[in-house]
Formats: sequence, structure tokens, C-alpha cells
Amino acid sequence: MKKRILTGITTTGTPHIGNYIGAIRPAIELVNECDQSFLFLADYHSMIKNYDPNEVQESVKQIALAWLSCGLDTNKTFFYRQSDVPEILELCWILNCVTAKGLMNRAHAYKAAIAENDQDLDKGITMGLFSYPVLMASDILMFDATHVPVGPDQVQHMEMTRDIAARFNYIYKDTFNLPEPIIDVKEKIVLGLDGRKMSKSYNNVIPLLSSETKLRKSIMKIITNSLEPGEPKDSSNCTVFEMYKHFVDKKKTKNFEQMYSDGISWGEAKQMLFEIVNNELTPIRAKYDELLEDTNLINDLLSDGAKKVRIIAKEKILQVREAIGINKIS
Ligand code: TRP
Repeated sequence: MKKRILTGITTTGTPHIGNYIGAIRPAIELVNECDQSFLFLADYHSMIKNYDPNEVQESVKQIALAWLSCGLDTNKTFFYRQSDVPEILELCWILNCVTAKGLMNRAHAYKAAIAENDQDLDKGITMGLFSYPVLMASDILMFDATHVPVGPDQVQHMEMTRDIAARFNYIYKDTFNLPEPIIDVKEKIVLGLDGRKMSKSYNNVIPLLSSETKLRKSIMKIITNSLEPGEPKDSSNCTVFEMYKHFVDKKKTKNFEQMYSDGISWGEAKQMLFEIVNNELTPIRAKYDELLEDTNLINDLLSDGAKKVRIIAKEKILQVREAIGINKIS
């Protein structure tokens, strides 16, 4: 069987450098070089956390623009919006009917949510949150993905996907491929301005698609210690150094390490970091501005992607319907 890679991006917030280093850059490298790949915007997944229509739409736009600006080749990869492929939701209902509630009860995300409640365990829990893994399984099984690059936090969802597929295959007939996760791709933890993991919820992010001036300002805000210029500095546990490493090869890292021992000033170190990041982001920014000028282009690309994958999805859903007996009466 051919390798068929598929991964989804939940459309929440706007992309930052952490997303770029940890997810976008490695995934683009991976999908641009494999036989067949599917990369989609999981916009229905975002609904479980966000009821603001404007934010939902803006996030889809920014995330789509980010992936395209960073070099995703839509001639090589199927790039689409989940909501443009209604067959996924159809499959989701069908899979809901074979998924044990007990399996969902064990989901980490759901368990974390109920752990925050004291008297009423169900407070604030929607069916969307509860059955999130079934929608994710539908995304994956719809296209018989063989390999799914995910972060370590998604490993359990992958196990559930396999369980659900196996259960369907057992009750009906062999219909779905059991996919393997690829875990290392999105594993990198990127530190934010204050040295904690870069995350919107800590308010410590460096935006990916901002101006050069803003990028410079953000980098200058990275927290360091108060050692003076000329004093030797320790490159371990240093946010500036960690960030630099994400953008250069081993040799440049070694040089930078030497500069630390030689007492580079924080101003100079940050300036060097800014230059290296800015170098990489300049063409991305240019592409972003170009795409932003012409919103038709992004809509066209996405509907084109959906059109292509729906051919596959429609065929699969017919196969599924036949397996369950919801087909033409004979
Ligand atoms: N749940 C995934 C995440 O939060 C996003 C996602 C949705 C996904 N559907 C998927 C990832 C299908 C891989 C395959 O990262």
C-alpha cells in the first residue's frame, strides 16, 4: 500500500513562530516530499472552543494564509477545509453509532475538562467536546490515511481512531485502514518571550506574519538575565539561544555558543537572532502580502482542494453505506 499522509490543523487563533517551527515547517517538508498527502483545516473542530463567528472565520483565513505563505505546494498536497467536505460529517454520524461511550469517557481532553468541575461534572461539557475524537477519526478514515503526523498530545486520539476503525471493520466488513501516527514531526517545544512554552494563553508569542519592525520589537522583549556585556554567558536555559538553534545549522550554533562564552551582549545576541529569523521570514511575509491582496485566490485554492478530495470521499462513503445497508433497495 502506498504511503498516504494526512493531518489536520485546528483553526484557533493566529499562527505564531512556535507553530511555524513546531508544526508548519516540518509538516510542509514532509508533505512536499511524500507520494500523497492531505492537509486540511479542521474548522468544525474549532467550534468546540469558539462560538464567535468572526473569530472562527478570521482564524481559518490566517491559518490558511500561513500554510500557503510558508510554501505548501497545493499541486502536491490536497489542501482543503473540513467543512467543504460534507461526507466527513456523514461518516462522523456513522462512526458515532459504532463508538463505545466508554471509549470516549477515557479521552484525556474530556477527563481534564470534567476534572475542573466539582459538583456538576457535566458543567460546560458539550457533545462536541465529548465526541471530538469521533470527528477526528472521520477525518482520517474518510481517506484511508496510512500515516498521520500529530503532536504527542494526539496519540490517544490516534489510538481511538484505530479502535473505531477496527470496531467498524469487525461489525460490518473490512472497510477502513488502521492508520499509524507519526509523532516526532510536531514534537518540538518552542519557548516564548518569558521562557515558558510559546502559547497564546501565556501571552508570550512572537507572531509569524507581522511586520519586520514588530518582529524586531518582539525579539528584543525576550527575557534574559542581567549579565553585562563582556561577562561570559551560559547558553543553556537561554531563550534567545534556544530560538536561534531552531533557525541555523550545528556549525552556526557552535559559533553562537562561543560568542556566549566570549561575553556577547544581550543586545547583540538578540540582534543576531532577529537577523536570522527575519531572513527566513522575509519571503514568507512577501508571499503573505501577495495572497492577502487577492482573497479570491485563497477561496479558489480551497474550493479546488475540496473538489479534488470530494471525489475520493464520495466513493468511500458509498462503500461505507453499502457496508451498513444504507444504500439502494434491491
Ligand atoms: N486534533 C488535532 C489537533 O488538535 C487536529 C486534527 C483534527 C487532526 N483532525 C485531525 C490531526 C486529523 C490529524 C488528523 O492537533
